[in-house]
Amino acid sequence: MSEKNIYELIKSRRSIRSYKKDSIDKAILDRIIDAGVWSASGKNMQNWRFFVLTGKSKDDYLAFSQKSWLSIKDILQKRLKPSLYEFTERFFYTLGNAPVVILAFAEINDQDNPQTQLGNVYLAINNMVLAAQYEDLGTCIMGSPLEVETEIRKFLKITRDDWKLVCGLTIGYPNHTPPTPSRQLDNRVTYLD
Ligand SMILES: Cc1cc2nc3c(=O)[nH]c(=O)nc-3n(C[C@H](O)[C@H](O)[C@H](O)COP(=O)(O)O)c2cc1C
Repeated sequence: MSEKNIYELIKSRRSIRSYKKDSIDKAILDRIIDAGVWSASGKNMQNWRFFVLTGKSKDDYLAFSQKSWLSIKDILQKRLKPSLYEFTERFFYTLGNAPVVILAFAEINDQDNPQTQLGNVYLAINNMVLAAQYEDLGTCIMGSPLEVETEIRKFLKITRDDWKLVCGLTIGYPNHTPPTPSRQLDNRVTYLD
């Protein structure tokens, strides 16, 4: 387990898009998910709903990731240099061979603030991301599953209209060391006294 302090842990996290073949021990995976459900949530709603895909269900899910690529590829072709575009395409086709994919939903009601209800799920996901980092695992949060939400709902047999897809998360042992994208500090934080 990592000896990193909390700041090193936060800053050493990168989005990982290529994973080793090693599976994740169930006890470790359970700890990561437990870290997620111990997140704070507005009015203690705990309105996250997680689907943890491993084995065949994870392999079957790749078809949806591949389909989502078709919606995104034209934009990325304009934005990314060719080598990064090809790497990203490979990630969408294989999810970097991640042994675990989590699909995160928010149960949304029409009384509470919608941003809070969605934010609750991202808070839980970030707890999982940091817990995974602590376990020397890598992760990649993905907004791209939203491109194929209807298909994913059918795949997971979700019939409730009040469950909205928020994001996907890959987890596995990192097989690469991505560069560290710079952080922009200007105009993002305003201190008042
Ligand atoms: C809400 C959200 C959605 C994201 N969606 C995707 C995605 O669909 N595919 C992907 O490869 N990376 C995705 N990422 C990862 C970002 O590209 C990444 O966090 C960003 O480039 C900064 O790099 P870093 O995570 O290594 O610091 C997403 C990240 C967030 C927070």
